Amino acid sequence: MKRVTLLAGLAISLGLAAQAQASTLAKAQYLSATCANCHGTNGKSNGGLASLAGYDKAKFLATMKDFQTDKRPATIMHQLSKGYTDAQLEVMATFFASQK
Ligand code: HEC
Repeated sequence: MKRVTLLAGLAISLGLAAQAQASTLAKAQYLSATCANCHGTNGKSNGGLASLAGYDKAKFLATMKDFQTDKRPATIMHQLSKGYTDAQLEVMATFFASQK
């Protein structure tokens, strides 16, 4: 009986972990969809602007910070970048870095 309970607990934990992962991906896709108009679906640019797919995570975070603080000159990204929290940028950075 104990073993059954343990297995059930394990199954539930695994299920919850999978669910948490799926919701992180959904959140990342939701946040990143805003960027698709200009940088392409999932960050895959069709050539007009820089691709965000495969963008180095640390470089992404540094670049977005530079846009937020007006350290990097921009026509639009200085405004867009200010709409995101550090936590949201972290989610997007991980998502874009994982795109081929
Ligand atoms: C309306 C079009 C537009 C949208 C939407 C947009 N960008 Fe940009 N992005 C630009 C332009 C234009 C540049 C070049 C810098 C500038 O002039 O603002 C740029 C540059 C960048 C760069 C630097 C690329 C490099 O290495 O040269 C990053 C990173 C970036 N954008 C991330 C994002 C993210 C993340 C989003 C979504 C939250 C986003 N952009 C949404 C237009 C856009």
